[in-house]
Amino acid sequence: MTTKKVLVTGVSRGFGKALAETALLQGCRVVGVGRRCPASLEDREAFEFIRADLAALETIGTKLARGLGKKNSPDVVFLNAGVGGPIGSSGEVSVGEIESVLRINTLANKVVLDALLERSSQPAQVVGISSGASFNGSGGWLAYSMSKAALNLLLRVYSHEFPRTHFSAVAPGIVRTAMTESICEQPLDERFPANARIRKAFEEGRAHDPDNAAERLWELLPAILAQPSGAYVDVRNLGREGDD
Ligand SMILES: NC(=O)c1ccc[n+]([C@@H]2O[C@H](COP(=O)([O-])OP(=O)(O)OC[C@H]3O[C@@H](n4cnc5c(N)ncnc54)[C@H](OP(=O)(O)O)[C@@H]3O)[C@@H](O)[C@H]2O)c1
Repeated sequence: MTTKKVLVTGVSRGFGKALAETALLQGCRVVGVGRRCPASLEDREAFEFIRADLAALETIGTKLARGLGKKNSPDVVFLNAGVGGPIGSSGEVSVGEIESVLRINTLANKVVLDALLERSSQPAQVVGISSGASFNGSGGWLAYSMSKAALNLLLRVYSHEFPRTHFSAVAPGIVRTAMTESICEQPLDERFPANARIRKAFEEGRAHDPDNAAERLWELLPAILAQPSGAYVDVRNLGREGDD
């Protein structure tokens, strides 16, 4: 059997780093994409790093083409890189701030997908890391919610156009990372209840550590593959129901 190749964007820390480490533990070859290679991965024989700032949309295609060269295309792709963006009253969020969040959370994923799908072999499975925020429309999370809702639909549209690849937008549940830690530091405000929900999950020990969340997602890949391509999947509704 040939070794699976997995590509993970946003590999420098948090959930992306844990996804890369989980795939390595599973015996896969891993290509990490990001601005910085974490020390724990840089010397791993089965790991390659493609340095790319995903905000620089126009350079992503060339960097991926150069990094992947003529080698096998990845079999599984995690579109993981993301930013939380501004949290607060929507009227105070500028269009420019929304654009920067959309650039990373939505548009960079389009560019990465285009670069991968034009290769002679395409990935079998693409998992876009989405969020419950893509559905909930929680107060205070305008830019992030818009970007993840758009990501869900981006993947749905691609699923119709590329039937040989399975696409999903997957909400991983609450994971203890820099992104959620910074949300916990926000002052409590009743207009923005999602912040309090995350803080409560932290306090009650219901936030998953990244390794645990990555393992859980890895184990659920076959169940995700069994969903229609283009689906939005919340891991809390698969497998261990009621986890958090
Ligand atoms: N944590 C949760 O509970 C949770 C819940 C639902 C969804 N998610 C999603 O999970 C994904 C990972 O988030 P996380 O929680 O692990 O947050 P994180 O610790 O803040 O990690 C975000 C990752 O994205 C990368 N990234 C951001 N901007 C980039 C850019 N311009 N170019 C290249 N890489 C960039 C970061 O790299 P740098 O180190 O270079 O900044 C980092 O590797 C995100 O899509 C997030 O929306 C997280």
